[in-house]
Amino acid sequence: MRLLLVHSLLFSFGLAQAAVTAYGPHVQSPLGTTTAASASYTGAASYDQTTLVPPPPPNPPPPNQFNVELQTGAVSGLSIQQEGSFFGFSIEFSVTTQIFGLNSSYLQVPFLNLMANLRQRSGSVKVRVGGNTQDTATLVDSTPDGAALEKYYGNESNPTGTPPLIFTSEIIKMMAEISALTDVYWYMGVPFNDTQNWRLQIAEVGEAMLGKYLIGLQAGNEPDLYSRHGHRSDSYSPQDYKDEFGLLINAMEADPKISNNGLLIGPNLAGQWSPSDIWQTGFATDFNENLAALAVERYPTDNCYAQFGVGNPVSGQDMFPRFLTHQSGIQIASEFPGATDYAQSVGKPFLMFETNTASCGGFPGLSDSFGAALWGIDYALQLAYSNFSTVLFHVGGQSVYYNPFTPPVTNQSSFHQWTIGPIYYSALVVAEALGSSNVAQVLDLQANGGNDYTPGYAIYENGQPVRVALTNFITDPSGNNDYTASISVGGTVPAQVKVKYLLADSVSRIANFTWAGQTFGSAFSSDGRPVGSVDVQTIPCDQTNNVCQVKVPAPGFALVFLTDDSLSESDQGPTTTFATTAYTKQHGTATIDPSILATSNGQKGIADSLAGTSEGRQRSNALGFAQALPSLAALLAGALVVGRLAHVQ
Ligand SMILES: *[C@@H]1O[C@H](CO)[C@@H](O)[C@H](O)[C@H]1NC(C)=O
Ligand SMILES: *[C@@H]1O[C@H](CO)[C@@H](O)[C@H](O)[C@H]1NC(C)=O
Ligand SMILES: *[C@@H]1O[C@H](CO)[C@@H](O)[C@H](O)[C@H]1NC(C)=O
Ligand SMILES: *[C@@H]1O[C@H](CO)[C@@H](O)[C@H](O)[C@H]1NC(C)=O
Ligand SMILES: *[C@@H]1O[C@H](CO)[C@@H](O)[C@H](O)[C@H]1NC(C)=O
Ligand SMILES: *[C@@H]1O[C@H](CO)[C@@H](O)[C@H](O)[C@H]1NC(C)=O
Repeated sequence: MRLLLVHSLLFSFGLAQAAVTAYGPHVQSPLGTTTAASASYTGAASYDQTTLVPPPPPNPPPPNQFNVELQTGAVSGLSIQQEGSFFGFSIEFSVTTQIFGLNSSYLQVPFLNLMANLRQRSGSVKVRVGGNTQDTATLVDSTPDGAALEKYYGNESNPTGTPPLIFTSEIIKMMAEISALTDVYWYMGVPFNDTQNWRLQIAEVGEAMLGKYLIGLQAGNEPDLYSRHGHRSDSYSPQDYKDEFGLLINAMEADPKISNNGLLIGPNLAGQWSPSDIWQTGFATDFNENLAALAVERYPTDNCYAQFGVGNPVSGQDMFPRFLTHQSGIQIASEFPGATDYAQSVGKPFLMFETNTASCGGFPGLSDSFGAALWGIDYALQLAYSNFSTVLFHVGGQSVYYNPFTPPVTNQSSFHQWTIGPIYYSALVVAEALGSSNVAQVLDLQANGGNDYTPGYAIYENGQPVRVALTNFITDPSGNNDYTASISVGGTVPAQVKVKYLLADSVSRIANFTWAGQTFGSAFSSDGRPVGSVDVQTIPCDQTNNVCQVKVPAPGFALVFLTDDSLSESDQGPTTTFATTAYTKQHGTATIDPSILATSNGQKGIADSLAGTSEGRQRSNALGFAQALPSLAALLAGALVVGRLAHVQ
């Protein structure tokens, strides 16, 4: 009934045909002009059907039966306490208008759904807006053609081809609306290219509009590459970076529009310098009060030859086995020896601020495969175990294979939906593995004698094991490499445990993975909501012998919930969020079930906003529902739907 009300409200505000200027990679074209030519366009990575050959099972195969004995009480080796939002995203600044929406009147419904799915599991989501484009980004009052963000093509001074950009506060307004609806917390970056004339507007406006949802400001993106990329002199050193960071702090402290001077994040190294090179300058101690966190950025490898013709050619097929092993995550964690201990000693979280399968876009068939989903889970849990506090998986443009989620190329948005990649499934799984208690502690079980193909982790809360995460990296349709983990706990196992599986029949599959029975389908098919009914298996345990036998197929992943609370804590509410249905070429119709909006999305955020007394929170609320009409209908149909969600609260 209330659904109808929404419809009539929408229609009473009217539908209008209009050409919307939208921004894709190297295309700035009116949205209303989809043509046959664009319908046959197949250039985006989402179209690539490259499928690799799964690596053969190891010979000899690992034991397919092993014990997992979980201690209780004072267990040694547990990680620090982790937040449920541990696994977040890093969104390249220049693609924000593709991902978030055109402006604060037109948000992308699929993105809201994707964030809401995570919030429901882990309580909140962390997203960084930045990347190569952040250092030269400039906040302006308006752009020449009125868009929220514009890029300059042609003279790209940046090695990865990312153009300088200008943007308006509409981008930050959109972020505030997304926070109000889905509890996304944001990291941004202060432009660092000009240390004489700091452009601090992003910090000023970010603080004013995002309030508590702004949780960090990165200062310097990969400064250890500045001299190589011609952004600083050849002699640019860790000490120079530290000195510039100090200049930034002085400038921020002198800026009356910035009140929170404790949000900075550094050194954001790419790997040319080691963290200890920076620690030695006194960076983390001298600037302790100004730092929200310490951070690094790292990809396990790159595919720059394929994209830019630099470096060595590497084949995704050859690289595939390297991702399908526990060693992949261990290797990255080990590249920062002592760093997380050091961070604890100076009282700061240590963040993996940008990562994914391979820089320069990833590998076709690998970065978009089921194997990458298994890799993402094991890697993220390994970082959690190693005392990182957050990992942000990067979202690039249309030409990138590793994206957790990709909107359709704008001129195809009337007939295509979003493509959800394997890394988004990893995010869902890790959100549930850690849950929403924010006291989860992770233990690498060294499962199966430390075998690299069958890793396992236990998740503890308050000294008790609550979940077990079990991966099988092997592809073997014969079933011979399926394994059974015999889980026992100190005391007695429960009468039964619940298990959710992440499944596909091969690590090389590039679509239709299922998590607990639900899927986001294949390319161009998702509005951000999982499809299908939830399938949670109940496995009876043998209490006499204190053992629960959990089978993990080859390939596959199982999340074992040892208590009912541990299951409910990882799923806080209804899955359905922002419904978008019924599109035609001529008219856009957004249907939003108001009861779902009222109970599931933004209610917390809105309550917070209303309770807030700071200017930032009030503004965030004012900007929140009032203008956050989901935009997908408009984007899909090229029609603008004008309405006010405030009416349907
Ligand atoms: C959002 O974009 C649309 C289409 O370009 C435009 O008509 C509208 O004025 C914009 N809204 C704001 C608040 O900038
Ligand atoms: C649609 O967008 C793609 C990718 O940006 C571009 O290559 C193609 O030429 C566009 N087609 C039309 C008809 O604008
Ligand atoms: C790029 O820079 C060169 C030299 O500064 C200039 O001649 C050229 O017009 C510029 N191209 C664009 C597309 O701005
Ligand atoms: C920094 O970037 C801005 C925006 O692109 C540009 O206007 C400015 O000249 C740059 N400053 C330096 C020192 O490169
Ligand atoms: C993580 O930190 C905890 C608490 O300081 C410590 O006991 C543990 O050994 C650390 N783990 C690793 C892998 O460094
Ligand atoms: C995914 O599943 C759908 C529905 O069963 C099917 O139409 C599609 O071909 C599948 N895609 C791939 C790449 O297997």
